[in-house]
Amino acid sequence: MDYRGKAALITGASSGIGAAFAQALAQRGDGAIVNVASIAAWQPTPYSAVYGASKAFVLSFSEALTVENRHRGVRVLALCPGRTETSFFAVAGISTARRGGRNPEQVAETALHALERGQSAVVDGAYNTMLTTAVGLLPRTWAARLARWRLRPRE
Ligand SMILES: NC(=O)c1ccc[n+]([C@@H]2O[C@H](COP(=O)([O-])OP(=O)(O)OC[C@H]3O[C@@H](n4cnc5c(N)ncnc54)[C@H](OP(=O)(O)O)[C@@H]3O)[C@@H](O)[C@H]2O)c1
Repeated sequence: MDYRGKAALITGASSGIGAAFAQALAQRGDGAIVNVASIAAWQPTPYSAVYGASKAFVLSFSEALTVENRHRGVRVLALCPGRTETSFFAVAGISTARRGGRNPEQVAETALHALERGQSAVVDGAYNTMLTTAVGLLPRTWAARLARWRLRPRE
């Protein structure tokens, strides 16, 4: 895609993934919409039920818009990051002992490559792709129970 001379509208660009998009698009951004979902879109997420359900909405919504708008030259992508090193958890007031994860620049690059390949959804990173693929093979009830075990609040 030739992004030169085009305008980009990025919401949530003050930090994290949005800020990485702003920087990456400065060198490329046309006829494309990137909706940030999550790997949480791929399974029910006990203890974060509304979050997972809203991300599932974003994924389904984006995939439908892709098909609706393909003939108009507008690309739509649902970006599904896993754990990413941003201020997300601190801002949400979620304390977590786990560290690591992808950095926002990698996530933005994943999305832009997926747009260029014409994908309607992309999971960021090999580990997250493996995780969502494996979860997709499970019965939904099992996937929810597995997520309950992973997401349960720690003491
Ligand atoms: N970080 C992760 O591990 C992770 C994993 C999966 C999915 N995601 C998704 O990635 C997206 C971006 O999160 P991030 O990790 O980049 O977090 P972040 O660094 O905290 O950035 C969040 C951005 O959203 C903006 N924002 C927050 N509330 C808003 C509101 N009510 N209206 C408009 N803008 C608002 C913030 O702007 P202000 O600074 O002005 O408040 C900020 O620019 C989120 O949708 C999140 O669900 C994140």
